[in-house]
Amino acid sequence: MRTHYCGDVNREQLQQTVTLCGWAHRRRDHGGVIFIDLRDRAGLVQVVCDPDDPAMFAIAESVRNEFVLKVTGLVRARPEGTINPNLKSGEIEVLAKELEVLNASATPPFLLDDENLSENVRLTYRYLDLRRPVMQENMKLRYRVAKTMRDYLDEAGFMEVETPMLTRSTPEGARDYLVPSRVHSGMFYALPQSPQLFKQLLMVAGYDRYFQITKCFRDEDLRADRQPEFTQVDIETSFLSEDEITGLVEEMIRQVFKRVMNIELPSPFPRMPYSEAMSRYGSDKPDMRVALEITELTEMMKEVEFKVFREAAQMPGGRVAAMRVPRGAELSRKEIDDYTEFVKIYGAKGLAYIKINELAKGMEGLQSPILKFLPEAVVKRIIELTSATDGDVIFFGADKEKIVNDALGALRVKIGHEKGHAVNEWKPLWVVDFPMFEYDEENDRWAALHHPFTSPKEGHEDLLESNPGAALSRAYDMVLNGWEIGGGSIRIHKQDVQSKVFSALKISKEEAQEKFGFLLDALQFGAPPHGGLAFGLDRLVALMAKAESIRDVIAFPKTQRANDLMTAAPNVVDEKQLRELHIRLRQSVTVEVGK
Ligand code: AMO
Ligand code: AMP
Repeated sequence: MRTHYCGDVNREQLQQTVTLCGWAHRRRDHGGVIFIDLRDRAGLVQVVCDPDDPAMFAIAESVRNEFVLKVTGLVRARPEGTINPNLKSGEIEVLAKELEVLNASATPPFLLDDENLSENVRLTYRYLDLRRPVMQENMKLRYRVAKTMRDYLDEAGFMEVETPMLTRSTPEGARDYLVPSRVHSGMFYALPQSPQLFKQLLMVAGYDRYFQITKCFRDEDLRADRQPEFTQVDIETSFLSEDEITGLVEEMIRQVFKRVMNIELPSPFPRMPYSEAMSRYGSDKPDMRVALEITELTEMMKEVEFKVFREAAQMPGGRVAAMRVPRGAELSRKEIDDYTEFVKIYGAKGLAYIKINELAKGMEGLQSPILKFLPEAVVKRIIELTSATDGDVIFFGADKEKIVNDALGALRVKIGHEKGHAVNEWKPLWVVDFPMFEYDEENDRWAALHHPFTSPKEGHEDLLESNPGAALSRAYDMVLNGWEIGGGSIRIHKQDVQSKVFSALKISKEEAQEKFGFLLDALQFGAPPHGGLAFGLDRLVALMAKAESIRDVIAFPKTQRANDLMTAAPNVVDEKQLRELHIRLRQSVTVEVGK
């Protein structure tokens, strides 16, 4: 039907006759001559329709945006002055000899090159949105990234194995999507939050070096970097140390950047213990492009007069910390008020600050609402510790550790990018030495920071009982420009250690047997030492595409409210389907769902 893709035609085809198929991107009437920009997935080409051939010209006149056309014509050089350097086909045009409308199109609900489209409209007509060149580039990028990973893993001896979608609840900590069973009244499958347990079982089965590019499902609050169904590049190996595993996948990411974008990432990626990431950057996924840092002040604030600082410093699990912003003394009152409002999102009660106008003038040279509560010696020490100098501002956070970290951590990234304290580079990082557990205040118990199959660090097994908060794990996360793009760990392969972890998590023997009995059983039958990790493919590609949300690199994503606007899912189903699934909705619920 066609000889070339529209976007690929160039000087090489000069004087040749080509046949192209595509969509009318735009039609322009130029006093007697009609120009049609014809578009396909390779790009645009200019088609010229002369009035010399009245039959063909009449067809050209009927063409509207998004009509599907077949054009046969002669490739000729564009006249001097009309060359378009932005197009691959910009030096040529196709003089139409035959023009056929393969299909007409209704007037599209939006112009494809409108740059201010609402996302709802884009998602409702996703098939039109996906025609837009930016989206086509994103989808191509996604394919190339996945292909490069697959090739790399294949060359490294990995084998792809599929695992079930209809399964039991897995332990990644989010809410499950449930699927009711028709055959077993009142029973449910869960869609997998990840293939975690199956890949561990594949290790027990001897399928060393497994990978899978697969969908995972999590019913959690959605954000720019979270979708209810997303794609993991899931990896597991046996008999490899942490360094070997992280080295292997780190090289994969380097290859992806090199082959797909011709970018050299550092080798090796820097590593940072979790505790350092939290204390210096207030985050377990620090954006290393930003030069700002957080300074610890808790100890020295224990005796100061300023109640806000003293109380936070004295409370168990409290923290007082500072962040110096070079040249920040020029921030206006309004800007500081806005930043104060911003940190409140994270639970902070305020944002104390000291502006350093002129150090030589001592306390006189400073400007701050809290100076009167802090002794001169303390202020001097703060300036020393933060290395602040003339023209800087120092911000403070005082509260529970989590609030201070979240607030100053987010402020650091915001100010860093807004005020020119960030480099425009790729900054990967491994975060390591995570704690095994974090305290779940709501339920008053310890919870796994990664998942309950993560191995404790060697020598930390005894801490599981005596001091769970101090036990470190063999988990690692890969962070890129402030996004967690992957995470994993060395797993527990001995049943006694697994039991200790369950007991620290207050999961009873019966509950463990009920939920994970198959894994516990498998650990008894010669489970090899194993470990792995999973990358969030959507996040990695979104970063590479410089997209604002992972929705822009997923062909058919859902909204923040987990709706598919195109197919209108989720939707109400008919009574008969529900009856077959043994589900009876109360009248009130039916009414609510239907409205
Ligand atoms: P984890 O839960 O950290 O680990 O997930 C791995 C990676 O998947 C991405 N990710 C998401 N991407 C988009 N939307 C979401 N809702 C979402 N949730 C997670 C992140 C994350 O780093 N089984 C373990 C891996 C292992 O231990 O091997 C797991 O699933 O980029
Ligand atoms: P106040 O005494 O409440 O007027 O607060 C004095 C200054 O401290 C103001 O700049 C507040 O924004 C700031 N502030 C109040 N509470 C906190 C807090 N928990 N952490 C950091 N700064 C705070």
